[in-house]
Amino acid sequence: MNQDQNKAPIFDAAMKYAKLRPAYFCVPGHRYENGPGSLLREYAGDNIFKIDITETGITDDLHCPTGAIKEAQELAAELFGADHTFFLVNGSTCGNQAMLLSAAGPHDRVIVDANSHRSVNSGLIMNGAEPVYITPEFESDWDIPGGIDPAAAEKMFELYPDCRAMIVTSPNYYGVISDISALAEICHRHNALLLVDEAHGTHCCFSEQLTNGAIANGADMCVQSLHKTGGALTQSSLLHIRSRMADIDKIRNSLQIVQSSSPSYILLNSIDTARRDLALHGKEMVSRALELARLARKKINSIPGLRCAGRELEGRSSIFRLDETRLVISASDLGITGFDLKDLLFEDHNVEVEMADRNNILAIVSYANSPEDIDMLVSSLNSIAENHSSGSPLPKMAEPPGKARSAISPRDAFFAKKKSVPWKEAEGCVCARMIDISPPGIPLIRPGEIFSADILNYLKQIRLSGAFIQGLADETMETVMIIE
Ligand SMILES: Cc1ncc(COP(=O)(O)O)c(C=O)c1O
Repeated sequence: MNQDQNKAPIFDAAMKYAKLRPAYFCVPGHRYENGPGSLLREYAGDNIFKIDITETGITDDLHCPTGAIKEAQELAAELFGADHTFFLVNGSTCGNQAMLLSAAGPHDRVIVDANSHRSVNSGLIMNGAEPVYITPEFESDWDIPGGIDPAAAEKMFELYPDCRAMIVTSPNYYGVISDISALAEICHRHNALLLVDEAHGTHCCFSEQLTNGAIANGADMCVQSLHKTGGALTQSSLLHIRSRMADIDKIRNSLQIVQSSSPSYILLNSIDTARRDLALHGKEMVSRALELARLARKKINSIPGLRCAGRELEGRSSIFRLDETRLVISASDLGITGFDLKDLLFEDHNVEVEMADRNNILAIVSYANSPEDIDMLVSSLNSIAENHSSGSPLPKMAEPPGKARSAISPRDAFFAKKKSVPWKEAEGCVCARMIDISPPGIPLIRPGEIFSADILNYLKQIRLSGAFIQGLADETMETVMIIE
């Protein structure tokens, strides 16, 4: 590294300002620690409010940085191997939107991972592009999405040679990392940008085992939720660019559209100080998380009736690498759904995991977990498995339906007139509101797509399995929104 990664320019600016403590006549109106909500202040103490300040000569301006924020972004770019890094205070949600706004315009074609997060769809509403979807493979042993097959990506470019960009999610929620360098080579050969939603993969940049991340493998841009796995506070994210084709000015303009004009200085501090820790200790942090997760996986796999996915998945279902810090755990052989397992862990054992689907739970192990946390998870799973040892395996669910056919673009669908109908009558109608299974927030059908019998049947199965479905038209869960 050429720069001094020990520095934390935004934190230094905040400390300088806290020391100066000028009589303050700007927003926010709480005036340091004097006026924030009293309950919160009693709980949190004073210091945090002293750094909740606005753009000043000392603190710099996120939208036009020339001082501390510029320096902090340059440090982050160096650390992550990018030419430019932008700090995001509205999560990777706004990063996905900005990537798409900068990469394509109305009626441009973009290849979109069908398992993209809902923020990708909102980016498409904003830019007005015409998505063509590529469906990741399905890992049927675990009922989870696999990776994007490079051969399928090549085929998409044969079918749609005018595509401007491709956007893929890697790692996905379950830790599946796609072959980003193969995808980058294909995109670049077709003069298209490769955009990677790496919301779940900040930590991958600190481990060869985890491929060192999307930028190191040739992606043009990627977003990372630094808050998910990099130690920053919620909503703190990064957008990295290393590309000959990306338009930096357009990215800056796009960020002005999707980011608050009052970015939280607490979040900016959190990004800056998390970057510093990752620079100084990132490799140890990630290898600690991997070690803890490997220990947990080994113990879980020795519990009768339970299984935890591991690197044996690599090489199938286009799974290039599996992020071992994600524990995908199934008790389906004991007849326990993922939803029930998650509830049992929390209600009976005070263990909270990230999410559940019908067959699995997902526990995320981080550098900040302790061996005691792992013991608690394993012993709780052990006790649940013992109590259900006579259970019989869950019946296999149908595979998710193929991708819905598009009728109109996400943007046209967004602005069209809509009405609600009972979902049983929706076959052949055009969807007006995204329906997704949440978490992980991956759309089953998007605005502008046609409800098929397969999709409606799958929706029915998913509802019966106890999943939480977002996007039905009302709280009866019996209606969907369609375009009139
Ligand atoms: C794959 C993926 N992309 C993007 C996002 C949005 O990230 P953020 O919560 O940082 O806005 C999420 C959120 O869970 C996600 O799972």
